[in-house]
Amino acid sequence: MAEVIVALDLPSGSDALRLLDRLPDVRWVKVGSILMTREGPDLVRVLTERGLRVFLDLKWHDIPNTVAEAVTAARELEVSMATVHALGGAAMMEAAAAAAGGRLGLVGVTVLTSHDPASYARAVGRGEVELADEVARLSAEAVRSGLAGVVCSPQEVALVRRRIGAEAWIVVPGIRNRSDPRHDQARASAPADAVTAGATHLVVGRPILHASEPGDAFRSFVEEAQCVRS
Ligand code: C5P
Repeated sequence: MAEVIVALDLPSGSDALRLLDRLPDVRWVKVGSILMTREGPDLVRVLTERGLRVFLDLKWHDIPNTVAEAVTAARELEVSMATVHALGGAAMMEAAAAAAGGRLGLVGVTVLTSHDPASYARAVGRGEVELADEVARLSAEAVRSGLAGVVCSPQEVALVRRRIGAEAWIVVPGIRNRSDPRHDQARASAPADAVTAGATHLVVGRPILHASEPGDAFRSFVEEAQCVRS
């Protein structure tokens, strides 16, 4: 089974809190750069005071000391999970993991899903790059550096699970029930398929945020995510 994390991709904190009033069963929420920049840590405090686990998705990529201090600040905010870029390197990830001290699950972003092989190869100054291999390589580096797990697309879950062993977290966005519109997620996956491949956390935004009955939509994702043993 996997946890379902609701991505609070909404314009304001009051919109997010109104949605959460309609989702009494939710346990995990994701706060990203937009909501964090607009509302700041006060919103995170309101969410944790409601008993929610917060996934702070700010994708840190900086020198080790700066990232470690940001992780310390997130830990003080009682965030449960946060992201760093695996491309920040082993020293950065090791410093981040040390600052987390096991009290906050740090996950490494591997290759952004906005990249295609050509744009990624250009960004890192290499010739041809097989993106799945690169995701697997960066996942192994992230876990070796002490992170709790990684974020990857549904397509790479099985490969990443083989590379990083049974225990590490695999956080997967791009989740859709079979009847949901895919929006801009070109490589979407059904919850059961992602969990069968090895996902531990599923990130779901628009299929819940845009549903006429968000509570029913959330429950249908949870039911499917829990029907499968990972
Ligand atoms: O609305 P939807 O379910 O597509 O939202 C998915 C969430 O996961 C969004 O917050 C998006 O920013 C995030 N995400 C993603 N792909 C990644 C990393 C994060 O869709 N590779």
